[in-house]
This record gives sequence, structure tokens and C-alpha cells, in this order.
Amino acid sequence: QIHPVILSGGAGTRLWPLSRASYPKQLLKLSSQRTMLQDTVARGLIDVGFAAPLLVCNEEHRFLVDDQLQQIGIKPQAILLEPKARNTGPAIAAAALWLLARDPDALMLVQPSDHVIAAPADFHRGVMRGLAAAQEGRLVTFGIKPARPDTGYGYIQSGDALGNEGVFTVDRFVEKPDRDTAQRFVDSGAFFWNSGIFLLSARAYLGELSRINPVMLEACERAVRDGQEDLAFFRLSAEPFGEAPSLSIDHAVMEHTSRAAVVPVDMAWSDVGSWPALRDIATADGDGNVLQGDVLAERMTNSYVRSEGRLVAAVGLDNVVVVATDDAVLVADANSATEVSAIVAKLKGQN
Ligand code: GDD
Ligand code: MG
Repeated sequence: QIHPVILSGGAGTRLWPLSRASYPKQLLKLSSQRTMLQDTVARGLIDVGFAAPLLVCNEEHRFLVDDQLQQIGIKPQAILLEPKARNTGPAIAAAALWLLARDPDALMLVQPSDHVIAAPADFHRGVMRGLAAAQEGRLVTFGIKPARPDTGYGYIQSGDALGNEGVFTVDRFVEKPDRDTAQRFVDSGAFFWNSGIFLLSARAYLGELSRINPVMLEACERAVRDGQEDLAFFRLSAEPFGEAPSLSIDHAVMEHTSRAAVVPVDMAWSDVGSWPALRDIATADGDGNVLQGDVLAERMTNSYVRSEGRLVAAVGLDNVVVVATDDAVLVADANSATEVSAIVAKLKGQN
């Protein structure tokens, strides 16, 4: 059976000041009436015979996550709690181990909790195309046609066609290349962006990990073995989990495995990594503006302005981002808005 495994551990620093360590991006209502996490779990996958979702999140967010699922009436298989964030490699390993003890043929549909997929039926069709390859032990990725030489993504060079239509081997997987390399990849026309969604058999993922990073596997095995069930929650054992190297699945496994496959999909995907990205996926008004909350604008174009309360007024601006919350206001040139991460780092330094 296919088990949706939903990762909810990132901080979303580029969406400050709305996204905070204690209340990260995926738990916010950014692009719809539901939070990004709720949209992810409710993507209609349960209706098509997938198992109930398995969530992996930080201990600190357990009640928020649990509440958000209850609000939309979804009962997870469990919520795995990480005592400390160790990135996605160990998070997925822990999920694989937990599932394998319950379903020896478990397939995991690993999904970030902070992406927008505007064409979920196409997503679902893509998953089905990758099914046979995943059952044969391939680590299946979903490839997006790159729109620009973004250095925040993994890049996948597809190889030969595999048995099923629309499924290819992977010649190269390069996580977050530098600018020049990303530009070369995009120009070559031979690369996809990695969507960050994976279809993997739990056994195959752990098998690759045992070859490529046995230290990570062993730490996660102990963390699950000594973990504790507590109602809907499953608490990973803190000491061993803390010993797992902090690496993403991309760096830990995908860059090194020869068993990767890619299914190109066109599903109106966005990882909503920054404020301008949010502007770009929302429906803009005639001036190219996206205004949310109590906002008044005069002679403004191509901008994103959001107020969480008080009135925000803007005059004579082009291509800016303004986000006003109770305790902080961000004003940025849209082309520089991703650099808000540097502000967050500075704030962390002050505390
Ligand atoms: N449970 C858990 N624990 N979840 C985590 C952790 C963790 O320690 N770290 C990150 N996550 C979650 C995030 O919340 C997000 O939903 C997902 O895992 C991916 O993590 P990101 O930190 O957002 O990764 P990224 O965006 O830099 O890169 C990944 O996604 C890109 C597409 O958006 C990679 O897979 C890239 O190759 C890919 O292109
Ligand atoms: Mg991301």
C-alpha cells in the first residue's frame, strides 16, 4: 500500500515575518483557506485508496500539527516526533522503519508540507506512473520543468526510458548547484528540478542507506526501537536520533544512488519558497498586485502587500514586498526578498 509520509520540519525563514520558528510556513494559511499542511494531507489521496498519512514533525509542533489534522477530520496513522531536527534523511529513515514494522511492502509517498500543487489530478497520475518502478526498488523522484536557474533546488538529468511510459532512469542528481552550474543545466534542456516529492519502498530506501550512510541508518534504527508510543504520537528516542548525521535525503542518498528514477510531471507546482513566489501563484489584479488583508494602494504595480491586522497603505511603488504583522514589518524590493533569510539570521544572533 502507498503511505503518504508528510514532512513538517522546516522553518521557512524566507517567509519571515509571518513564518517563525515556533510557527513555521507549513502551519500558516498562505495561499488558501487551509494551512499548507492541511492542503497537503487533504490532497485527495486518501480517497484513492492510499493509507492514512504518517507525519514527521518536531516535538515542539506536536499540538499544532495534531490540531490542524483534527480541524479537517483526518486521522493520521501516527505523528512521529523528532526531539531535534536532523534534516530529511533521518526523518524519512525513521518513517521507513516505523512503517516496515507494520507493512513489509510499504511504499512511501514522501511529501513536503509546504508546496502548492494546483493540479492535484496530474500529481496523482504521475504517482501512478511511478508505481511499478517504486515496487521494483527504484527511488522515484518527480521532475519539474525548470523555469529559471534557481540554486535552491535539486537538478535531475534524466537517462533512458524505463519499462513504463513516462518513467526514466536518472543519469545525475545534483542538489543545489551554484549559479553557473544551474544556468548550464537549464540551458542544456536535459535537466528537471527535483520537486522534493519521492515515491520509495521503505525497504529500498533503507537498503540504499545501509550502503551509503550506515551511521545514519543505525542511529535511526535505535531511535525507533527505543521510541515511545503516546496516543497518536510516536516519540523517537532522543539520544540515538541526535546522533544521526544531519543531512537531507538529497545529499545523503539521491546524489549517490544508482537506483533513482524520474517521472516528469506538469502539475502547477510551486514550493512557495519566498514572498515573490507567493505573489506569482496568486491571482493578481490588473496592476499585477496581490493585496491581502487591510491594504490600500495607489499607483502601485507588481507588488505583494499583506497585512495581518492594521491598515497598510502604499503609494507609487513597483515590484515591492510589504508584510506587516503585529510585531514586525518587512519592506523589500521583490528581487531581493529571498535575502530576508539574512535578517532572520541576524535576529537569531541577537537572542
Ligand atoms: N520532519 C522533518 N524534519 N521535516 C523536515 C526537516 C526535518 O528535520 N527538515 C526539512 N523538513 C521538511 C520541510 O518542512 C519541507 O517540507 C521538506 O522537508 C523539504 O525541506 P526543505 O528544507 O524545504 O528542503 P529544500 O526546499 O531546501 O530542498 C528540497 O526541496 C526542493 C524542492 O522544493 C530538496 O529536495 C530539493 O532537491 C528540491 O528541489
Ligand atoms: Mg523547501
